[in-house]
Amino acid sequence: MLALVTGASRGIGRAVAIELAKNNFDVAINFNRSEEQALKLCDEVKNFGVEAEIFKADVSDYEQAAELFKNIKNVMHSNVSVLVNNAGITRDNLLMRMKIDDWQAVINTNLNAAFYCCKEAIRDMAKAHYGRIINIASVVGLTGNAGQANYSASKAGIIGLTKSIAREYAERGITANAVAPGFINTDMTEILKPEVKEAILNSIPLKKIGNPEDVAKAVMFFASEESSYITGQVLAVDGGMTMC
Ligand code: NAI
Repeated sequence: MLALVTGASRGIGRAVAIELAKNNFDVAINFNRSEEQALKLCDEVKNFGVEAEIFKADVSDYEQAAELFKNIKNVMHSNVSVLVNNAGITRDNLLMRMKIDDWQAVINTNLNAAFYCCKEAIRDMAKAHYGRIINIASVVGLTGNAGQANYSASKAGIIGLTKSIAREYAERGITANAVAPGFINTDMTEILKPEVKEAILNSIPLKKIGNPEDVAKAVMFFASEESSYITGQVLAVDGGMTMC
């Protein structure tokens, strides 16, 4: 079975690609910048004895997202059965100072890209009467966050998208769920100031920062048969930070 992970060359996407490969999924690795990292991951994934290929595409651009699905079919001779919308960016600022470009870039990458990829994946999934859509949201999509109006709105949007797809396509054998990470150790969070990290850490009941693998395991659950009676759900992987 073929899984596509967007923005897979590093961080959570990378861990997801490896976890899927460990569990016997072939993996289409999407990246938009670092071909070197994507190739390295591709070799690692192939070591698990599954098929893997890399595909360059900026998924926030509809033409490129559509082309990505065509390329995957041509190269891997298979339809995408598991779609993991992971690509994401932050452009944090207080609302008053937030540039229009920063609002739009975050919505384009975190929300529109997920819509484009779902739109491209769903026809084949519906025909096959099987599909698993797993969207990477964030706990701030549930709670909001000062300085992250764009990011929080994009992640709240992806939760709405997930639930709507879950309702629309349940009868076609497709499940759609979201994983909402809390504070995970990746390049995205690396840039935060030590005092900000400390404050976040204090708000986590389990008193530790999560790893990409923690998120990958939750994604794997939604990709697996074990979750076949679960759809439209949001699973927070956050050390107990939100509990809502
Ligand atoms: P990261 O910055 O390490 O990885 C994001 C990946 O997405 C990068 O490889 C980047 O090149 C790729 N990407 C960005 N725009 C793209 C585009 N237009 N087309 C294709 N690829 C694109 O970040 P991380 O932490 O691994 O984040 C992965 C996902 O998890 C994101 O959706 C993020 O919002 C979400 N998340 C992360 C949290 C954290 O604490 N690290 C917390 C909550 C959610």
